Amino acid sequence: MSHLIAPSILSADFANLQRDCEMINNSKADWFHIDIMDGVFVPNISFGFPVLKAIQRHAKKPLDVHLMIVDPDRYAQAFKDAGAEVLTVHYEACTHLHRSIQNIKNLGMKAGVAINPHTSAHLLEDVIKDIDLICVMSVNPGFGGQKFIENTYTKIKQLAELKKKYNSNALIEIDGGVDLNNYKKLIDAGANVLVAGNTVFASKDPVATIQQLKS
Ligand code: DX5
Ligand code: ZN
Repeated sequence: MSHLIAPSILSADFANLQRDCEMINNSKADWFHIDIMDGVFVPNISFGFPVLKAIQRHAKKPLDVHLMIVDPDRYAQAFKDAGAEVLTVHYEACTHLHRSIQNIKNLGMKAGVAINPHTSAHLLEDVIKDIDLICVMSVNPGFGGQKFIENTYTKIKQLAELKKKYNSNALIEIDGGVDLNNYKKLIDAGANVLVAGNTVFASKDPVATIQQLKS
């Protein structure tokens, strides 16, 4: 399977959201990456359900929703109703991670688990068989446009080995600081999904940039 590209809406122009959604629809992008931040789990607040529902009205590709919030179980049903196809919770935010994963799957969504840069890949050993996606944070979550953390390559390789060991089909997604200089190396290391915010939306020609990331 060729790798997937998920432009991050966090870097879109919120005053022109419909235009930016249509740009993604008309590009080679595979998913919409949607960052939900609560100002508690991360030191930033992004947007909530009214904005997500507006995106849902225009998006013609799957919504990949990344929850950077505490107590994500509380909102899983609401995210399903708002159109989430993939729902990712943070390892560090879930006391009962296995229950959270089951809950997401029971609601009919694909379940993802995100790990912060300081969280070891091996901590996913007991759930890797149960999840559809592993989101490797390659920056500290909370903001777009940050510098890529180089240790990510090692983590991808460790996760690829764990997947093999446990016969897991989980996609490895890289989130943060993905650009035109590192995307090939990330794919070669074993990444399956690349999230890109700043690289896409700050470029002169976002459609061409997506096409390049996809190539
Ligand atoms: C960071 C978010 C990312 C962010 C990526 O907390 O999870 O999805 O939008 O943005 P870039 O690609 O600009 O680093
Ligand atoms: Zn994200």
